[in-house]
Amino acid sequence: MGNLSRLLKESWTLVEEQQDKVAGYFYARIFLSNPHLRNLFPVTMDVQRARLLGAIVSAVQTLDDPDRFEEYLRQLGRDHRKFHVEPEHYEVVGEALLEALRTFAGESWSIEYDQAWGDAYNVIAKKMIAGAEADPNPAFWHAEVLTHERRARDIAVMTCRPLQYPLEYRAGQYVSVEAPRYQPRLWRTYSMANAPNKEGTIEFHVRALGAGWVSSALVRRVQVGDLLRVAAPMGTMTLDRKSTRDVVCVAGGTGLAPVKALIEELTRYNRTRWVHVFFGAKDRDDLYDLPELNKLAARYPWLSVVPACSDDRNFVGEQGNIGEVVARYGPWGDHDFFVSGSASMVKNTLRTLAELKVPAVRIKYDTFGDI
Ligand SMILES: Cc1cc2nc3c(=O)[nH]c(=O)nc-3n(C[C@H](O)[C@H](O)[C@H](O)COP(=O)(O)OP(=O)(O)OC[C@H]3O[C@@H](n4cnc5c(N)ncnc54)[C@H](O)[C@@H]3O)c2cc1C
Ligand code: HEM
Repeated sequence: MGNLSRLLKESWTLVEEQQDKVAGYFYARIFLSNPHLRNLFPVTMDVQRARLLGAIVSAVQTLDDPDRFEEYLRQLGRDHRKFHVEPEHYEVVGEALLEALRTFAGESWSIEYDQAWGDAYNVIAKKMIAGAEADPNPAFWHAEVLTHERRARDIAVMTCRPLQYPLEYRAGQYVSVEAPRYQPRLWRTYSMANAPNKEGTIEFHVRALGAGWVSSALVRRVQVGDLLRVAAPMGTMTLDRKSTRDVVCVAGGTGLAPVKALIEELTRYNRTRWVHVFFGAKDRDDLYDLPELNKLAARYPWLSVVPACSDDRNFVGEQGNIGEVVARYGPWGDHDFFVSGSASMVKNTLRTLAELKVPAVRIKYDTFGDI
């Protein structure tokens, strides 16, 4: 662990147990000195008051080598324009962060800690600001919902079309989405489930999580004709067109969305690469897009699909977690891997791939949460 990383982790332990209070103080500092910034944040903040603070703390701590995360930070900065964040706001937030840490760490805080957090925050903020300034596109697009279909208990497949300008993205990427009619100022990320097309339509696959604010609005309330907002595309889980290796996609639940987009891109040019899709879910109902996948597999001889259920004894097919199922096939020593789904699914799959000696450089993944 580098010295900077050690200082950041060590100092965080001084306040970690008081995170809620630190967050309260942090926001109070921002809003007292700059009341207009309150409008950038969700209307109700009690449920998730630590979201921004948590995001900054984990960014500062995990991105201790910011050059490695250059592209991610540029994309994050570009994406932040959807909140109406301006370059001068970074200083306000950075000062509030340091003030909150100093206050709650009390006498154990030191100049070294102060310097470490200030330096790390400033490097990250600079890269985010540069990313935002370099982007010629609008901060977000208004997109009209064209179709909305309920699949399974809690999953919807919907398409929308950005108005004003085309939204350029690559298969495998994701965007932040807001449903302003139902949950204003709450943005969550969803993967495009199709490759870019001439009509400019975008498909999303969304699962409503029990207490989830945005996902349940997208699945249960959004109607055809509603306007969503969609921000700049992000993510690097894209195809390397120069690679000649065969491909393995491992998807859990709606983690299938980016995989569907990758398959669609492959249908446009692939003749030589075998593509194996492993699609896992709890039960048959959750295999919400299997008929579509099977149709694609019947049409493209290079595509094979293996569905699996982890919690459905009556399912005729593979049983178990999707990572375990992948391990039953193979060998996988010379393939490009794409893994997408919930944090636990991605974590388990990455562990299995490491056991199977798949080189980490060949694995691209997106997780729906922190791992
Ligand atoms: C890169 C990326 C791509 C994504 N792509 C998709 C996609 O294509 N389709 C899709 O359906 N989702 C996708 N997600 C997840 C999505 O962004 C939201 O996290 C999810 O819809 C929940 O948002 P919410 O507002 O409904 O829940 P929140 O209000 O944020 O959370 C409500 C509650 O649910 C819990 N919770 C949140 N997320 C999960 C989870 N994954 N599993 C279990 N409990 C959880 C929280 O702890 C909280 O208690 C993606 C996430 C990322 C980071
Ligand atoms: C180093 C600087 C920053 C980093 C690393 C950072 C990172 C993040 C991340 C990762 C999220 C997403 C959290 C999530 O919804 O899952 C987020 C949300 C947010 N950020 Fe930032 N951010 C930074 C600076 C700022 C600044 C300067 C502002 C302007 C006031 C800002 C405003 C917001 C808002 C409004 C949200 C949404 C909060 C919510 O939904 O509750 N951020 N930030």
